[in-house]
Amino acid sequence: MIRRVVTLAAIMLATAHAAAETVGAAAKGGHPEYLFLEKTPRAEAAATAEKLAKTVIAARMIIFAYAGKFVDPTLGDKGFSGEFFERQWRVSVESELIDATPNQKKIIEKLFWAGRQVIDNNQDRLNVKGIGWKHFLPAKWEREMGQVFTARTGIVIKQPGRAYRSPVNVPDELERSVLQHYVDAGQGDNKPRTAFTSMGKQAVYRHMEPIRLIPPCLSCHGKPKGAPDMLGFQKDGLESGDLIGLMSVTIAVDD
Ligand code: HEC
Repeated sequence: MIRRVVTLAAIMLATAHAAAETVGAAAKGGHPEYLFLEKTPRAEAAATAEKLAKTVIAARMIIFAYAGKFVDPTLGDKGFSGEFFERQWRVSVESELIDATPNQKKIIEKLFWAGRQVIDNNQDRLNVKGIGWKHFLPAKWEREMGQVFTARTGIVIKQPGRAYRSPVNVPDELERSVLQHYVDAGQGDNKPRTAFTSMGKQAVYRHMEPIRLIPPCLSCHGKPKGAPDMLGFQKDGLESGDLIGLMSVTIAVDD
């Protein structure tokens, strides 16, 4: 009898414990990055984040322009080396960076470096012959580049998705509210949403702007909603001009 009561109590305790703590949930309080190596003066924060966002968007466009070549199964070496990519990327943002401060230049150099690493890292994938879809997209480049760039600088560049495909693109609380803002605002609002806030113990500046769809994106993110795209994901059911995600930049403030 006593043993039965004890067993029952143990089961009840275990159940109560399970209800209190969700296994596999995000830990609370801190922030995964805690050594913010590169910082920006508060007065420069907005311009620094904007330059980073513009430079990343320019790279996405270059990669997108080569999409047709990347998916050609008859081609082996595509000639799209890190060096080749970086050269075009630098030219495309020259005018954007002309007024960059020395601190901004130092940070953007590390961005070029990270972006180039990722292209070099993907050479085997890009150059494989006989396969069309190689899973190489602007979004994949940005995901991998963001992780390399964060590792070197502490600056976070990510692309939270409206309905994210990669779990790396899960929005945090602020990003989710900004995604909702742009969905509610419709296609007209492209003004970045920004905030001085903190991540863990670090004062940061956050810059978020919409990434919108253009017609070639619709084979995967378009209509009909729920139909499988060529990769097996369910299509988002969106139209050209609709919000698909955010260009999100978080940079530590130096004060
Ligand atoms: C061939 C199908 C395909 C096309 C075309 C496509 N995407 Fe995606 N998109 C994906 C996949 C797959 C991912 C996840 C990439 C990863 O991180 O590996 C993704 C991820 C994204 C993300 C990050 C959020 C998320 O869902 O993880 C954004 C933003 C995005 N795409 C925007 C675009 C835009 C803008 C275009 C057109 C310029 C486009 N995509 C074209 C398949 C596609």
